Amino acid sequence: MENETPSYYLVTGGAGFIASHLSVELVRRGHKVVVLDVLDYCSSLANLKEVEASSNFTFIKGDICDEELVRMLFSKYSIGAVLHFAALTHVDNSFGHAEEFQHVNVHGTRVLLEAARAAGIDLFLHASTDEVYGSKETCSNELSDCSPTNPYSVSKLAAEDAVLSYWQDYKLPVIITRSNNAYGPHQYPEKVIPKFICRLQKKQACCIHGSGMQKRNFLYVTDLVEAVIILLEKGCHGQVYNIGSELQMSIAGLAEDLVRRVVGDSVHRADHISFVTDRCVNDVGYPMDSSKLLSLGWRPRTTWNDGIDHTISWYAANFQNWTTTDSALSPHPS
Ligand SMILES: NC(=O)c1ccc[n+]([C@@H]2O[C@H](COP(=O)([O-])OP(=O)(O)OC[C@H]3O[C@@H](n4cnc5c(N)ncnc54)[C@H](O)[C@@H]3O)[C@@H](O)[C@H]2O)c1
Repeated sequence: MENETPSYYLVTGGAGFIASHLSVELVRRGHKVVVLDVLDYCSSLANLKEVEASSNFTFIKGDICDEELVRMLFSKYSIGAVLHFAALTHVDNSFGHAEEFQHVNVHGTRVLLEAARAAGIDLFLHASTDEVYGSKETCSNELSDCSPTNPYSVSKLAAEDAVLSYWQDYKLPVIITRSNNAYGPHQYPEKVIPKFICRLQKKQACCIHGSGMQKRNFLYVTDLVEAVIILLEKGCHGQVYNIGSELQMSIAGLAEDLVRRVVGDSVHRADHISFVTDRCVNDVGYPMDSSKLLSLGWRPRTTWNDGIDHTISWYAANFQNWTTTDSALSPHPS
C-alpha cells in the first residue's frame, strides 16, 4: 500500500512574533510546516533557528499578496491547513498608512482564501484580534458588537468578514481567533512590553502614551500557541473564538512593574517613567469572555512572574536579533 503524503501546515507570518512560536511548536510535535513570510522589518529568521535544520520545516520568503507565488505554494506542497498570521500589526504605524494596512491585511487574506478554496484544504485558521471589538470597559464575547477605532483594527475586522464569506459562500472550513495582547520572546520591540523592557535595559525611561490609564489584558505567547493548537483539534468550523487573559493592567501599572523588575526595587520609579503625547485614538481596554474556548479545555498556564521574568532575560540577550531597531524604541507614537 502506498504511503499517503503527510500534509503541511502553511503558516503565514512565521518569522514574526506569535507564528514563529507556533511554527516551532508544530515542528516539535512532528508536523510538517511551510512558513511564508516577506521578512518585513519586525521579523527575524533568528526566531526560527530552532527548526531551520529540520526536514519537516521549509521557509519561503514572499508576499501573501503575490497571487502567483501563493498558487505555486499550494500546487507544490500538499497543504492541509493555513494558519494565517501574516499582517501589518503596529497600531501606531496604521495611522497614516491605512491603505497599506488594508492591502496586506485584507487583500492578502483574500489571496490566501482564494488559493485555499481552489485547493480544497481542511482548515483556514485566521488570527484576528481583541481590537476588533473597539474600546470596551466590560467583557466582550464573540457575539458582541464590533466597532474598531484605528486603521489596524478596521483592517482586521474587514479580513474577518472576508474569511467568514468563504465559509458562508463556499463552506471553506474556517476558524477565527481574537486574542488579547500576547507577550514573550521574539516580539519586535516597538510593542509596549518589549519596548519598555528594552528602553529600561538601555537606561531610558518607559514612555507612556497619554495618561497611562488605558488597560490591556496580557497573555504569554506559549499559552496563545496552546489555544491555537487546541482549536486545530477541537474548534468548530465557521466559528470565532476569543483567546483572552484575566491578567489586566493599566499601562502605567505595567511601567511601574517593569521598572521594579528591570532597574530594581529601591529606585524612585517616577524617575524611569515619562509621559508623551497620546496616539490620536487610544482604546480604554479589550477585556474578553473566553468561555467558549475554556469549554474546550484550554487554560492559560504561565504566571505573570514567570512569563515576564523570562521575557526580560530574553531581551537582555537577544536585542540584536533584528536588522534594524532604530525607530522601534522611539518614545513617541509614529
Ligand atoms: N501580538 C499580539 O499581541 C496579537 C494579538 C492579537 C492578534 N494578533 C494577530 O496575530 C498575527 C501575528 O501577530 P504578531 O504580533 O506575531 O505580528 P508580527 O508583526 O510580529 O509579525 C507579522 C509577520 O508577518 C509578516 N508579514 C507582514 N506582511 C507580510 C506580507 N505581505 N506577506 C508575508 N508576510 C508578511 C512580517 O514579516 C512578520 O514576520 C497578526 O495577524 C496580528 O493581527 C497579534
